[in-house]
Amino acid sequence: MVTKSFLGDGTFGDFVTVPVAVGLAKLPDNVGFAEGATLGLAGTAAMDSLAAAGPPSGSTVLIVGATGGVGSQAIQLASAAGVRVIATFHTAAGKAHVSTLGAAETVDYREDVAASVLARHPDGVDAVVHLAGDLAALLPVVRKGGRLVSLLIGSPDQVPAGSAEVVPVVANPTPDILARLADNQAAGTSSVSIQRTYRLEDVPAALADFSAGTIGKLVLILN
Ligand SMILES: NC(=O)c1ccc[n+]([C@@H]2O[C@H](COP(=O)([O-])OP(=O)(O)OC[C@H]3O[C@@H](n4cnc5c(N)ncnc54)[C@H](OP(=O)(O)O)[C@@H]3O)[C@@H](O)[C@H]2O)c1
Repeated sequence: MVTKSFLGDGTFGDFVTVPVAVGLAKLPDNVGFAEGATLGLAGTAAMDSLAAAGPPSGSTVLIVGATGGVGSQAIQLASAAGVRVIATFHTAAGKAHVSTLGAAETVDYREDVAASVLARHPDGVDAVVHLAGDLAALLPVVRKGGRLVSLLIGSPDQVPAGSAEVVPVVANPTPDILARLADNQAAGTSSVSIQRTYRLEDVPAALADFSAGTIGKLVLILN
């Protein structure tokens, strides 16, 4: 996994130099390179987000942006840990996708997500994992003492103070985390959804498809 802080050399290339301390793990024999490519950032971000949210088994977590790469991993990891997942969607395909991955409840994000969730869980949920949409609007959904974890902010000061603890997360692909993700994939306890693969010369088509919205990952494969 490439962890450079900007998109530049090697962004779409056959070879790239990386530091050895982070971002590298051995791919298990029964996991393909395309699957491995989709796991790194999305899986690490999901694992780090859930670690920050800290929902124990039996608790309830709302994942906003659940149909995306990170959300898809987070649903599976949380469900496998005995956490009840409420997942957002906005198409029938998205709803089917999150339900298949293990979401116990779904909420259409074109509605007022906070109001919909509070109607079912009047005391709020134990944690929210924020991957898309308006963060401040989700504050009322978190029960007193709960956590709102976001991949999209750099500091808790970016949202109004409330009764929930706001925790920014930056994915850190340590060898240990990547190895755990690879083991999950190899054991079949998690899966990735690859919508389409492209050759390097088809990068423009991949970017156009990405901009149009996807369910599942788009992967460039080596020529
Ligand atoms: N801080 C970090 O270290 C870190 C690491 C990884 C990712 N990220 C960020 O985390 C975010 C999620 O990453 P990703 O790879 O999962 O992105 P992604 O695959 O593009 O998924 C985002 C999902 O959010 C959904 N969505 C859009 N607007 C929404 C809304 N208002 N409410 C609920 N869901 C909504 C989209 O669904 P539709 O397409 O159906 O609209 C899409 O499925 C991205 O912004 C990414 O840049 C940060």
